[in-house]
Amino acid sequence: VELRPYIAADFPELAQVCAATADNGCDARETFARPDLVARYYLEPYLRFDPGLCLTLADTRGPCGYVVGAADSCAFVRWFNTHWLPDLRAASQAVRVPRGAPDAWFFDLIRNDATVPKAVDRYPAHLHIDLLPRAQGQGWGRRMVETWMALAAARGANGVHVGVGESNKRAVVFYERIGFLRLDGEDGILLGRRIAAAR
Ligand SMILES: CC(C)(COP(=O)(O)OP(=O)(O)OC[C@H]1O[C@@H](n2cnc3c(N)ncnc32)[C@H](O)[C@@H]1OP(=O)(O)O)[C@@H](O)C(=O)NCCC(=O)NCCS
Repeated sequence: VELRPYIAADFPELAQVCAATADNGCDARETFARPDLVARYYLEPYLRFDPGLCLTLADTRGPCGYVVGAADSCAFVRWFNTHWLPDLRAASQAVRVPRGAPDAWFFDLIRNDATVPKAVDRYPAHLHIDLLPRAQGQGWGRRMVETWMALAAARGANGVHVGVGESNKRAVVFYERIGFLRLDGEDGILLGRRIAAAR
């Protein structure tokens, strides 16, 4: 198993990892109307915006996890809302999902512009991490976040935030375990961790 910089050839498998973990950490490929669109929100824009902050975890069977994100979430969100989201919104326009469907939240998300949390000044970076079940529970998640935070620190970020789905209890436990704190007064579940200043 190795953690290495993302390369373009990883994309098809990482898009599968994204879909396989998109339903609050569980497989969305059977339950979402368009599981393929999820990677266009949570994975692909980061590969475009700052590919140097994209890491691939690969084992003998191929890519099985990734961590992606932005060191400056304000800059990312401005770019995302202007240059990325409009096409994705257009692609999802025709999809009809009933209220209460497992992917209803995702289509609500696409309909609105992305925002940054209130605590963005203290936690300016943000990341997304997903591992296939076969790679989970072996300490890779912790190592991937630590490695990613060092890269974000090198870009000047002094803190990172993560949003977690309302029913993804184990992700909250994971982030708390590796030093993230719950941030109150934000939309949804948000956690943050400060990054020690690089010397
Ligand atoms: C959440 C996720 C990134 C965690 O990565 P991981 O490699 O499985 O976690 P690690 O093995 O590095 O665990 C790190 C610590 O968190 C703890 N932890 C992780 N998952 C846990 C769980 N379900 N329950 C209790 N503790 C847990 C571990 O015990 C470990 O603690 P320790 O190092 O003190 O022993 C990974 O499981 C995953 O990709 N899940 C599916 C997708 C997902 O939910 N992504 C996050 C969306 S916000």
